[in-house]
Amino acid sequence: MKVKKAVIPAAGLGTRMLPATKSIPKEMLPILDKPAIQYIVEEAVNSGIEDILILTNRGKNAIEDYFDFAPELEESLLKSNKTSFYDSVRAPAGLANILFQRQKETKGLGHAVWCAKSFVGNEPFAVLLGDDIMVGDVPVTKQLIDAAEKYKAAAVGAQWVSDDAVEKYCSLKIEELEKKVFKVFDVIEKPPPEKKFSNYAILGRYVLTPDIFDILENTPPGHGGEIQLTDGLCTLCKQSDMVAVDFDAKRYDTGNLVGFMEATIEFGLKHPEVGPWLREYFK
Ligand code: G1P
Repeated sequence: MKVKKAVIPAAGLGTRMLPATKSIPKEMLPILDKPAIQYIVEEAVNSGIEDILILTNRGKNAIEDYFDFAPELEESLLKSNKTSFYDSVRAPAGLANILFQRQKETKGLGHAVWCAKSFVGNEPFAVLLGDDIMVGDVPVTKQLIDAAEKYKAAAVGAQWVSDDAVEKYCSLKIEELEKKVFKVFDVIEKPPPEKKFSNYAILGRYVLTPDIFDILENTPPGHGGEIQLTDGLCTLCKQSDMVAVDFDAKRYDTGNLVGFMEATIEFGLKHPEVGPWLREYFK
């Protein structure tokens, strides 16, 4: 199973980061000197992905501009010999073949993924949620692709989370196949405590087969009146094989203030220039 395509849904309203996201796409909020979405695109590229579809909506043009060249800025940086800035400004456009499509209505994550149907065609593909920035030795999407190839199955990234988090995310019914890899039998989106299967929840990464598109087309609105990807996965895991990978990586939920600050501080501590200063500052 060769996975060369990825879909990054980026059409959310960013309500948890208002008022900043009133006029800036939440995906463009910087963690140190790079917008959050660049970390996601880099993870996809480092996992072997070549073609990326970013699903946007009205008011998100800044994302498109960011992954384009900026001739005037580049020329001025070159003239003033600011070559490292020049390189960093050019880099995003060269990361991959990046396409954009608008999700014209905010009808949920399942609907967003369904919008990618013609981009994906008849191939397996990865989905990376923009809020979840993952840091691990092996990119999480690569960990999922490896498991999907090994088991000839769809794969979802999962971790054991607190009771509160299960209610905010989803809950998987699973059985261990090998250390850190599980067969998925069922999944429920944002369950009340009495309906949860386990404390394993899917966290932001998926490798799916194109069968998901027909399923999503016939999936009625679920939690919050939206078409939920999780509801589609619930059908997919019953009609074909799906594995959950308890991935090795630290996850930062940058869609809320605390997760965003955590990522900013931890990335700052590792940064060659900012790190030493930040350590002194905290003292
Ligand atoms: C989404 C998914 C949910 C998943 C979560 C974390 O929820 O619907 O299944 O567990 O992301 O990646 P959201 O955070 O958009 O409410």
